[in-house]
Amino acid sequence: MVTADFLLVHAGELLTLAGPAAPRKGRLSDELGMILDGSLASMEGRIVWVGPSDQVPDNVQLTPHATEFDVQSKVITPGLVDCHTHPVFSGTRQAEFAMRARGEDYEEIARKGGGILNSVERTRQASTEDLFNTALRHAGTMLAHGTTTLEAKSGYGLDLDTELRSLEVLRDLPGFTGQTVVPTYLGAHEVPAEYRDEPDAYVELIVERVMPLVAEKGLARFVDVFCERGVFSVAQSRRILQRAEELGLGLKIHADEFSDTGASALAVELGATSADHLLASGDQSVSLLAESDTVATLLPGTALFLAKPFPDGRRFMDRGAAVAIATDFNPGSCFCESMPFIINLAVCECGLNVEQALVSATINGAFAVGLGDAKGSLEVGKDCDLLVWNADDYRSIAYHLAVDDIDRVYISAKQAVSRERKVKSVSLEDDR
Ligand code: NIG
Ligand code: FE
Repeated sequence: MVTADFLLVHAGELLTLAGPAAPRKGRLSDELGMILDGSLASMEGRIVWVGPSDQVPDNVQLTPHATEFDVQSKVITPGLVDCHTHPVFSGTRQAEFAMRARGEDYEEIARKGGGILNSVERTRQASTEDLFNTALRHAGTMLAHGTTTLEAKSGYGLDLDTELRSLEVLRDLPGFTGQTVVPTYLGAHEVPAEYRDEPDAYVELIVERVMPLVAEKGLARFVDVFCERGVFSVAQSRRILQRAEELGLGLKIHADEFSDTGASALAVELGATSADHLLASGDQSVSLLAESDTVATLLPGTALFLAKPFPDGRRFMDRGAAVAIATDFNPGSCFCESMPFIINLAVCECGLNVEQALVSATINGAFAVGLGDAKGSLEVGKDCDLLVWNADDYRSIAYHLAVDDIDRVYISAKQAVSRERKVKSVSLEDDR
């Protein structure tokens, strides 16, 4: 018998995503761990029991003021994990979007002074409060669409001061939305204008000055690099990521977004936690990732937004890679906060089946941010972050295009989003 202060009963389909303590690959990549007429109990925000509703009386004892909720045959899933976002920036780039709609190319626009550096200029000028409020608004939208855990990158400041301010924004977000935010330092997002003629000097600045400070202040859990033709080479990326490892930080790579320069091979060589984008991955890169523990994170929203071919998710699945999916939310290449929409795209355009898309948006996303032990599945000992869907069949999550039927969002067993889709801060301490 366990003691619980929170109990959900009669979930028509309770998708636990239970399984081994590793990212799901091969035949495990579509295992949802579904319990029909399921129940779940938690104590102080941690799951203490999961099983069929008719076994509740023999197993769960409620505290006097416990919350008990009959979900009336609805679907329950873990909270969604968005394992790749860039929410700290100032200004939006709809002008570039409109230029692309007239036929111009993303990389071409960047060369003409648009692109990441356009956002960098505005981000440097913005106050920390403005950056915070923008990030908060977008994180709130993510929450309303079911994202309870997100990885979030800096990378629109590039200079020391703005990068640290960006990471401080990420540090403060959870106090306002209740979400878990995994911060990533992405100083190597682009070479800033003042280093255009000496990119290696910028790499040295990152390696010698910024990363040690970021590590010392505990402001990032991961370091990421945009390894791409015309941005950071494999050699520069290796230098940055090796230093990150020395400093005890986890590794991520923006790999094979526009061209396969060997970034996936580098991710595997260094044991990166994830390699992300993979729109242009060649056969060898797919095989290397499939044979490794590095999670292949696909970002189909970016392909849609930039009118590029979609990542071939089925190829990654068939070879046996561990696949996650994420929004890549950012002002330039994917202005979209909705993970349910990314699930739609993964199924309709990337060749994942519905079950694989759900695994990729939950438990594999959790492993892609180093939180496979706490997030992404509904198992005893894990955080009670879950979604109640206005649906009695989980397949409708992928089927209902561009509209998600989320009824309620719970974080640590506290309701974060009501039916009215208002984001209620679950741990509002400060009135910023
Ligand atoms: O992940 N690839 C690099 N960075 C972003 C795009 C950033 C931008 O255009 O502002 C991405 O797609
Ligand atoms: Fe990205």
